[in-house]
Amino acid sequence: MDGLTIVILAAGEGKRMRSRQPKVLHRLCGRPLIGYALRTARVLADRIVLVVGPDADGVRAAAGEGVRVVEQRERLGTGHAVLQAREACGAGTILVLPGDSPLLSSETLTALVAQHRAAGAAATVLTAVVDRPQGYGRILRQGGRVTRIVEERDATDDQKKITEINTSVYGFDARRLWKALGELRPDNDQGEYYLTDVIGLLARAGGRIEALAAPDPAEALGINDRKQLAAVAAIQRRRILDGLMEAGVTVLDPASTYVEDTVTIGPDTTLYPNVVLEGATTIGSECVIASGCQVSASRFGDRVTLKPYCVVSEAVVEDDATLGPFCHLRPGCHIGQKAKIGNFVEAKKARIGRGSKANHLAYLGDATVGEDVNIGAGTITCNYDGRAKHETRIGDGAFVGTNATLVAPLVIGEGAYVGGGSTITKDVPPGALAVGRAPQVVKEGWAARRARATTREEPGD
Ligand code: UD1
Ligand code: CA
Repeated sequence: MDGLTIVILAAGEGKRMRSRQPKVLHRLCGRPLIGYALRTARVLADRIVLVVGPDADGVRAAAGEGVRVVEQRERLGTGHAVLQAREACGAGTILVLPGDSPLLSSETLTALVAQHRAAGAAATVLTAVVDRPQGYGRILRQGGRVTRIVEERDATDDQKKITEINTSVYGFDARRLWKALGELRPDNDQGEYYLTDVIGLLARAGGRIEALAAPDPAEALGINDRKQLAAVAAIQRRRILDGLMEAGVTVLDPASTYVEDTVTIGPDTTLYPNVVLEGATTIGSECVIASGCQVSASRFGDRVTLKPYCVVSEAVVEDDATLGPFCHLRPGCHIGQKAKIGNFVEAKKARIGRGSKANHLAYLGDATVGEDVNIGAGTITCNYDGRAKHETRIGDGAFVGTNATLVAPLVIGEGAYVGGGSTITKDVPPGALAVGRAPQVVKEGWAARRARATTREEPGD
């Protein structure tokens, strides 16, 4: 919106979180709290100013391109925090957002700014009428007009009964805001410079105070402690799933499905109960993700099937591949089209070519496997010699028999065969058969001889 500066307050310590991490870096459905405020602000603002506390490198890093970051060296309250942004702000309208209210929508904020400007108001407060106002500032009105905001800890018993609360979102006329901030006094229970007091000051100076009630009171929910974090996450989680369902994803049991805000899923994909999809994960269309799967920071093509209980991190899985049940892809795997990674197979930094199969009980680490390769049950790439990791390369069409021990560094050529139970320590040329195991010994009649020997030794029994 034209000439709009958004100031995001993120300098608070977040004492109530009881955390070493700044509150606004705590994650809600995979995104730090501050990420939500920034995302909403980016939709609306010409200019974004982020107020951070001292030692807040993590918060600064989250700010990203084009955001002006100012530091509030001493945490003297929300009013003091806004004052730190003064030099970085434009003239005109200033919209203040709390950094800890992730459910605020850009539609509501747009409506607030529009109302503020249309009325020529000194300030416009976003309020919400809630069932449980505890912990929030209460909106005081006279003759219908907002006259001031009182914080819960400074409120009388009667004021505490008011259910219209301050969301900490305000539109301000810049000039009048800076003047009022200069007049703030820390005469409250916490001895802080409260931004809320600016409303009373502006009203007393004859300024027009507008209010807009959030259409959905959930938007007002601020996060001060971990119980609130969980409560807001539950709402956000449901919103994410609703959005996916609207876009054509089948979610069999929304109550038990956890999909982070950073995940995208194509239409006609089905999520079974107890699925967790997190981080920057992209899933194509017509995939099936069965129960108990946990996928993070991975990219799946179309028609990928995950049978139950797969754990997949930082992997690329191409179209029509099948994983599981019970497979573990550790970071750096690339599974080609139509490949199959089956039960109890663990892979790490493994590239598995199109149509190749490792169907049972294998470990593939630091491996490059070509196309249409068969990896027999129980095959292990021995990639670690106690000091360093080594690579195994297996050519197209090779057949690795059951229970092979492949000691890396190792190259198995195209179309080569490895006999079951072999320990392979030397490269296998293309098309060759390698067998590396003790020759079998057969002793005819041995069992009967043993039985006779036992009888002689223990005649009493
Ligand atoms: C604040 C409002 C309260 C409102 C509630 C809505 C004040 C005094 N109270 O209370 O009326 O109902 O939000 O959620 O404003 N911050 C700073 N510097 C500071 C202190 C805070 O940048 O010195 C930031 C925090 O990081 C946070 C925001 O300001 O993002 C609000 O601070 P917080 O302490 O959470 O205020 P509340 O007690 O929730
Ligand atoms: Ca808060």
